[in-house]
Amino acid sequence: MDKVIKRAKKVEGELRVPSDKSISHRSIILTSLANGVSTVKNFLKAGDTLTTMKVYRQLGVKIEEKDDVIYVHGVNLHGYKEPDDVLDMGNSGTTTRLTLGLLAGQRFFTVLTGDESLRNRPMKRVLNPLKQMKAHVDGRQIGEYLPIAIRGTKLRGIEFLNEKASAQVKSAILIAGLFAERTTTVIEPVLSRNHTENMLKAMGADIKYEQSAGGHKFSIKGGKELKPIDIDVPADPSSAAFFAAAAVLLPDSHLILKDVLVNPTRDGFFRKLKEMGANIEYKNHREQAGEPIADIEVFYSPNLKGIEITKEEIPSMVDEIPLLALIATQAEGETRITGASELRVKESDRIKAVVLNLRALGVEVEELPDGMVIKGKQTIKGGIVDSFKDHRIAMGFSIIGLIAEKPVTIKDADCIFISYPQFYEHLEQVVEFK
Ligand code: S3P
Repeated sequence: MDKVIKRAKKVEGELRVPSDKSISHRSIILTSLANGVSTVKNFLKAGDTLTTMKVYRQLGVKIEEKDDVIYVHGVNLHGYKEPDDVLDMGNSGTTTRLTLGLLAGQRFFTVLTGDESLRNRPMKRVLNPLKQMKAHVDGRQIGEYLPIAIRGTKLRGIEFLNEKASAQVKSAILIAGLFAERTTTVIEPVLSRNHTENMLKAMGADIKYEQSAGGHKFSIKGGKELKPIDIDVPADPSSAAFFAAAAVLLPDSHLILKDVLVNPTRDGFFRKLKEMGANIEYKNHREQAGEPIADIEVFYSPNLKGIEITKEEIPSMVDEIPLLALIATQAEGETRITGASELRVKESDRIKAVVLNLRALGVEVEELPDGMVIKGKQTIKGGIVDSFKDHRIAMGFSIIGLIAEKPVTIKDADCIFISYPQFYEHLEQVVEFK
């Protein structure tokens, strides 16, 4: 489906965007490891998280839904069953990488595959440390790509340096650590999202955290029985970001984004937008099921300034970098993004996607191997852009369409269902068109 977005007048109102994708994935994957039934309120029902639900059912986990609450019947560390077919991980990198960690410690055989995008995403980053833990695992191109076959075995603890600050890799190794002899340690020079560690701790895992000169160190001991928990998933800051951007860019806008997860490992976008001069405020700051949440109030912000985004800042805003680049086209001065080469291996090459699409809309932008340089105060002319079947690219360019002179057509916009199926309905709700 192609979507045409026309210039808008303003954004006004209140919105509770869909629930957090990262926490929703973990609310099934991690609770399935418990000894007992966990409950999940406000589970995100979108492409990726429904993939997780389907895959864990195929692995023998009973997952029920009653009155909008999901009940995950944990099977303990070794109660999973060998699936009788290949597991299709769809578009979901998180499901794939975390599940690889779990399957490495099982006593059976599994084959994993995914859609065309996922089959081109790097997996050695997980497979290499898993192999060091003695996992029996292999994949296409010497273990780099799906399909991947894995025969679970007895694992051994390792010390692993998570150089790419990937939360998916950290999570995979910590989960594998639950099945390993001795201690498994993950060290991160820059802290990536910490939902796995938080949730495992709440479930009673033997996990320790230390901060040292080398960074952040997590150590987990295997074999311990995990207890079930009750989770209430907050709104996804990565989804809220699109509407915050629209409010910042459209004159006279005023928007309140309700119940948003503002964990510091995730809210870098909002901090950076503030640094650019945006009028944004966290209200009603509180805690929900162990995570900090707030209502975020956003006003039209006409005096944005260009900024620098560097490597250490990337992890807390990794999925929002494309959107920050789009906003930067409207700021005073230049914005320089570096240290973001991870963007090239997301659902699409997001550096290329942003650069090609911005150029298609008449915007000047310089591509760097690990980022881009965006000149400010540019006119968005309008035209045709490609989503590259990447949900965040489709939504980002829909937002930029709201300030374009002529309509912006987004090709293959239906990929938004991966994280935010109601995106265009919500756009109609809070955006006033001319
Ligand atoms: C995620 C981690 C990030 C992020 C992805 C979700 C997670 O990926 O981009 O959307 O839930 O752990 P990396 O671990 O590859 O950085």
